[in-house]
Amino acid sequence: MISIKSKREIELMKATSRLAASTLEYIEPFVKPGVSTEELNQLCHDYIVEHGAYPSPLNYHGFPKSVCTSLNHVICHGIPSKKDVLKDGDILNIDVTTYLNKFHGDTNKTFFVGEVSEENKKLVEVTYECMMIGIEQVKPGGHIGDIGAAIQELAHSHGYSVVEDYCGHGIGREFHEDPQVVHVGKRGTGALIKPGMTFTIEPMINLGVKHCKVLKDGWTVLTKDKKNSAQFEHTILVTETGYEILTLREEEKK
Ligand code: MF3
Ligand code: CO
Ligand code: CO
Repeated sequence: MISIKSKREIELMKATSRLAASTLEYIEPFVKPGVSTEELNQLCHDYIVEHGAYPSPLNYHGFPKSVCTSLNHVICHGIPSKKDVLKDGDILNIDVTTYLNKFHGDTNKTFFVGEVSEENKKLVEVTYECMMIGIEQVKPGGHIGDIGAAIQELAHSHGYSVVEDYCGHGIGREFHEDPQVVHVGKRGTGALIKPGMTFTIEPMINLGVKHCKVLKDGWTVLTKDKKNSAQFEHTILVTETGYEILTLREEEKK
């Protein structure tokens, strides 16, 4: 069942989503060579709590930290650790989900650590474009499958693969609600898109194969071929005429 948010619920979705977005803005200057992902986790945790919210990942199905930090060939759900110290040339995804006034907002960004290779830079830039072209498909009367179709076409045109084992999701009172938003697919298939729906679009794009492997910690998802992976995520509201990005950052406003 896909929930349709009321006017009041949409206001609350906007507030939690703005906090998630501002957490990514806050953490940006700390993403530098020499910092550990555990330190970044603690900074995000404190920022979220100081703003009256709770970091949704913490204890979610046993996840032990407040944000996910996914480095280089980690696709998603990386666990912050003192042992993971950033170095020049890394790419790091930080995935922030906030729980404020009973609603979740979910967003992530892949950061450059110092100077990165052309290969990594292009992967990250194309992944952002994949998320945006997926978002641009969203309008009442369209289908969820339209989103994945557009993402898949763009990723494949650059020779990249799209992760199929993890997907976007409805979001609201629950962290993960219906529908599943798969990042591959066929136009005109899947659930009908209606005003008042809120869901995430969060493509994971790989330099090499699409296949994943989960570490024994039960969380960390890696690429099977150890080639790098990038991701971006926004929480989207379906409006009467299209969409609104609820987790948009200042840097993305033109
Ligand atoms: N934030 C992730 C998502 O985009 C989910 C993380 S689940 C966790 O859906 F348990 F790993 F935090
Ligand atoms: Co999500
Ligand atoms: Co997320």
